[in-house]
Amino acid sequence: MGRVTIRLDDLPLRDDLRGLQPYGAPQAPLPVALNVNENTHPVPREVADDILDAVGRALGEINRYPDREFRELRAAFADYLRHGLVADQIWAANGSNEVLQHVLQAFGGPGRRALGFAPTYSMYPLLTRATGAEWVSGSRGADYTLDAESAVEQISAVDPDIVFLCAPNNPTGTPLSLDVIEAAYEATRGIVIVDEAYFEFAPRTAPSALALLPGRERLLVSRTMSKAFAFAGARVGYLAADPAVIDALRLVRLPYHLSSLTQAAAIAALAHAPVMLQMVDEIIAQRDRISATVEALGYRAYESWTNFVLFSGVDDPGRTWQQLYDRGILVRDIGIPRSLRVSAGTAEETTAFLEALASIDSRA
Ligand SMILES: Cc1ncc(COP(=O)(O)O)c(C=O)c1O
Repeated sequence: MGRVTIRLDDLPLRDDLRGLQPYGAPQAPLPVALNVNENTHPVPREVADDILDAVGRALGEINRYPDREFRELRAAFADYLRHGLVADQIWAANGSNEVLQHVLQAFGGPGRRALGFAPTYSMYPLLTRATGAEWVSGSRGADYTLDAESAVEQISAVDPDIVFLCAPNNPTGTPLSLDVIEAAYEATRGIVIVDEAYFEFAPRTAPSALALLPGRERLLVSRTMSKAFAFAGARVGYLAADPAVIDALRLVRLPYHLSSLTQAAAIAALAHAPVMLQMVDEIIAQRDRISATVEALGYRAYESWTNFVLFSGVDDPGRTWQQLYDRGILVRDIGIPRSLRVSAGTAEETTAFLEALASIDSRA
């Protein structure tokens, strides 16, 4: 039992899945884990108690299927997002990864094409190909920025059915201005999905793509509770768009895809949004401390509007990754030459990372 008898390649796997690698951020039980852009601060006790009560109440009816339309949760997200949104414009799923999967299942699929601007979130190509659609990897300018002219040019050349705009971008932290989103929308006949997974870490005055939704029925804006809300383990992502888009997503979701426990936990957490988000400023402070300190150590830190920092000038990223690992610190080698990515931790975790990096001579 459990012994590997044949190789993956020997199975009658779909041809278009052959040779693909699964999402593979290394998981290791190290004391300081700063590799997957989690919020390293736990949910505040007072909120956790309320969540526990809500989940307890949901357990009393766990013999029944959950509300398939998760109406209360959608109304809570509409309230949180403001911008005049109503529940009919909200979708949610088990993490924004599943939200994106629904988008691809509805608007991607065989014969369709999705475009993103690399380096960007590594799940976009995987989710795209898993629906049988083609992934086209576009490019970014110097410093990983994307301007309207370049976005429009690439969109016109590729004629995609779906355009991914990660704002701010993972793994580089780069902000994206609304004029690029507007120009991209005008340049395509397809769906434009703006992934705002890290939006809460942007400057308070930065506008959200949500402001562009009125009159743009092909524009979708996704968010997640995994980052700013410190809710990664609960798996809750959401999206705002035209009600017709929500109807399209309903065609591909599994019935009852959001469990009653998930719905109860998310509703309880959203009722405490200000408390849940209270660590955001502290995380931003640690992020800026990382940027300043790695620069002082002789590396280059890229501008970040997220909870992580991409820095370059690393002689051998694989070796530095291992040296940090040996010191109990997990960061991410995302395959960008001479670069590593690190998530902002608590003050102590951030100090541990910065001290470990200072003790290693890995500048290029
Ligand atoms: C840009 C971006 N989008 C989406 C996700 C998925 O988040 P989740 O599925 O936890 O909501 C991540 C996670 O790291 C991300 O970086």
